[in-house]
Amino acid sequence: MRVIAFYSPKGGVGKTAAAVNIAYLASQEGYSTLLWDLDPQGAASFYLSGAGHRQGAKLSKLLQGRAPIAEFIQDNVYPDLDFIPAHKSFRNIDIRLEQDDDTNALKAMLSPLSEDTSLVILDCPPSLSRLTEQVLQVADQVYVPLVPTWLSLNSWQQFRDFVRTKKLGPKKLRPFFALVDRRKKLHRDLLAQKAELFERPLKASIPYASVVERMGEEGLPLEVLSPTSEAATRFRDMWLEIKQDLWHSGRKAG
Ligand SMILES: Nc1ncnc2c1ncn2[C@@H]1O[C@H](COP(=O)(O)OP(=O)(O)OP(=O)(O)O)[C@@H](O)[C@H]1O
Ligand SMILES: [Mg+2]
Repeated sequence: MRVIAFYSPKGGVGKTAAAVNIAYLASQEGYSTLLWDLDPQGAASFYLSGAGHRQGAKLSKLLQGRAPIAEFIQDNVYPDLDFIPAHKSFRNIDIRLEQDDDTNALKAMLSPLSEDTSLVILDCPPSLSRLTEQVLQVADQVYVPLVPTWLSLNSWQQFRDFVRTKKLGPKKLRPFFALVDRRKKLHRDLLAQKAELFERPLKASIPYASVVERMGEEGLPLEVLSPTSEAATRFRDMWLEIKQDLWHSGRKAG
């Protein structure tokens, strides 16, 4: 089982759109995939609502170790795509996790899955919290969408330094540009400097595209909504890179 996360300290940068599209692409290739919406706002549910799923359940029993994760999984979203929707009770997860000191509650919650699940995708809320630390510890790779602006590069550097200082696995971080608008000179310039700006950027960048916004309205992944769009193509490129990271890089063999 591999675990990846889409995380950024900034809100509204395309974490959830990427998590849902990558989860769908992975499941379509037969990887048994679990998408877990860790953000109490529950945006991933909107993107999957076209497939129909039930409301999220209160996660307190799971957090307390009194119920297994299997009880919270909705397994009928798409073939090979399971989903744990968010629940507003997750707002309190940090209070609960703070009490756990050194134990990684997230890791403990995920451990019963390892036999049946190939890939777990964590869609994270935009905060730097105890949950983020546990996500960074558990994840094999963390994909970080960045809008190509100086401010977002600044917040990226702060985040990367935090991960280094806390020894949470800076080598796991893979930034990528999202909401890219090629009409803007700054966006084009920063894209051209990607190799100098980052150690391990993804090659794939996600364009700003109204079809991605429509995912929320229609409740469908891009591959269903508009497979020939440029954005869908870029998400397929991204999925190839992620597969390479997880199963073919040699660093993570097995
Ligand atoms: N590539 C894109 N092009 C145009 N709009 C996009 C794109 N990606 C995301 N959006 C839109 O931007 C908004 C935020 O996207 P999304 O929910 O994926 O970001 P997020 O980083 O998960 O946000 P949050 O921090 O609130 O969880 C949504 O309205 C979404 O439709
Ligand atoms: Mg989100």
